[in-house]
Amino acid sequence: MKNGLLKSAILGMMLGAVNATPAFSGNIEVNHLGVQNTLVRVNGDAPYLFIPVQESNDDATIRVIVDGKPDKTIYARLAKSKVDYSVPFDLTPYKGHNVVLDIMTSQGRGSVREAKDDACWSNFALADTFDTTNREKFRPAFHHTPSYGWMNDPNGMFYKDGQWHLYYQWNPYGSKWQNMTWGHSSSPDLVHWTHHPAAIEPNGLGAVFSGSSAIDTENSAGFGKNAIVALYTSAGHSQMQSLAWSDDNGNTFHIYEGNPVLTLESEARDPNMFWNPDTKQWTMVLAHALDHEMLVFSSPDLKEWTLQSSFGKGLGAQDGVWECPDLFRLPVDGTGAEKWVLLCNINPGGPFGGSATQYFIGDFDGKTFKADTDASGNVPTKWLDFGKDHYATVSWSDAPGGRRTAIGWMSNWQYAAEVPTMQFRSANTLPREIGLFTAPDGQIYASSTPSPELASLRGKTIRKGTRATIGTKGNEYALPPSGVCEIQLNVDAQKASSLTFTLKNTAGEQTVMTYDPVAHTFSFDRTRSGITDFSQEFPAVTSAPTFEDNGKLALSIFIDRSSIEVFGNDGRFAMTNLVFPTAPHTTLSVSAAGGKAKITDLTIYSIAE
Ligand code: FRU
Repeated sequence: MKNGLLKSAILGMMLGAVNATPAFSGNIEVNHLGVQNTLVRVNGDAPYLFIPVQESNDDATIRVIVDGKPDKTIYARLAKSKVDYSVPFDLTPYKGHNVVLDIMTSQGRGSVREAKDDACWSNFALADTFDTTNREKFRPAFHHTPSYGWMNDPNGMFYKDGQWHLYYQWNPYGSKWQNMTWGHSSSPDLVHWTHHPAAIEPNGLGAVFSGSSAIDTENSAGFGKNAIVALYTSAGHSQMQSLAWSDDNGNTFHIYEGNPVLTLESEARDPNMFWNPDTKQWTMVLAHALDHEMLVFSSPDLKEWTLQSSFGKGLGAQDGVWECPDLFRLPVDGTGAEKWVLLCNINPGGPFGGSATQYFIGDFDGKTFKADTDASGNVPTKWLDFGKDHYATVSWSDAPGGRRTAIGWMSNWQYAAEVPTMQFRSANTLPREIGLFTAPDGQIYASSTPSPELASLRGKTIRKGTRATIGTKGNEYALPPSGVCEIQLNVDAQKASSLTFTLKNTAGEQTVMTYDPVAHTFSFDRTRSGITDFSQEFPAVTSAPTFEDNGKLALSIFIDRSSIEVFGNDGRFAMTNLVFPTAPHTTLSVSAAGGKAKITDLTIYSIAE
């Protein structure tokens, strides 16, 4: 029985706009079946169905029925009182078939009559294009973001034939976490990204959580020499590990029909694997999330897995779940020795609250990871980045020239869903090269330096090689009007007890960074940096050890529209923090307290927007 018939509407809402003259014919029928249940039938041959979203609502369950058979289930926060934006549902795979959406809402309406008034029903629309042109002031100018919708962890990254492939946890149906799918982008230079269609979508075993990919050079899995193989967590009623493979360089994946390839009796996720030439087997590290440990498995073919060991119980930061591991070997600067690095992202329990990337340095014999201890015999807790917005960091497999290039999710689970953006939510950090160095305390630490390709972002040189003596009054230096820039700043503290670097804008907002050469720390205060009130966890001061003993500090600072990344002393510390200034940062002020200090080199490059 039909209780509603809508003509195809043409909408131009926040997430997308459509052409005025559609090259399709069709309409949408809405049939209410009860307080919570509605059928939406799509007639005709439109490429997209726009789904109207109101972010403050709970998810509706939408079963997509094609020619009477269930095809997939998606979840979207259907609009009740107003439409925040629309998301596109791709109808092209169903051309010539009958498509019905069987929708169960959670709108909390008392009667069918009331439910019929929900804003979504009159705002479902057919369209022939979906325009993702940026409409937001806080979308980064030079960081990777999804073209629209929610993103969390980068995952499954590999390098092949001159292309850096980046997959990410993506929600194509809204800007909050849901419908986990592997989104896909690729880049020849880690700077300019091309978006591709989703690579792995939720399937019968559940949503597609984080994982890893690699080139199967040995054809160990039998999918072909140099096939791309991927392991990910299928998140259905429980978490289990699944295998997929690609014979077109990671553009599309085949789901292995024998999935899952590994099940456990407790929560485990984010399989990170590599082909170990020493053992001629695959090694997989799996986060045993709630047990705060990593499990190590091995396999000859990615299908049969043998548990070898576990690592981490009682070690390092234990306050949150352990997630997103990565294990790799690197040379230690200047010693000729090699060490293994185990990345172990945790949430919450980071040094400044919420999510953070901890790591362990040690040895790995193909079966067991053993962490180095400090002078008192304890395994020290180490952090890869000393900001609040650096999580789920993992590295590219098969990177050229022995590089270990990593990238993180530039947010924090404490407030990621509340940040003041809507067309998209979350960016990735800049790519970083991971290295190892021995610090003054005798310990080996991981360094993070900006990937060399980032130098290609440099536009106009605003200032080059400035030297100056700095006192309490401070010196002011202009930044480009866009505020989007790279600052190279070398200082010598000399007699000063602290140096302060303040980024200012015309709205009177400030981000304040302070170097303490006595305590050997660098701190970052975003409490007055702009919009901070969307979460009480957002205003914060973060602090890093500077790993120097001579009062000299060398900073590379990358400022984008809503983030600041600081790399200090050749990457001996890195700090990644979001900021939402209402106007661009246009001034850098540098001042010293307790005595005079010197700027030995200040160079500022604009970065093209
Ligand atoms: C980390 C994480 C992973 C999981 C993914 C789900 O941020 O919780 O452990 O695979 O996000 O999107």
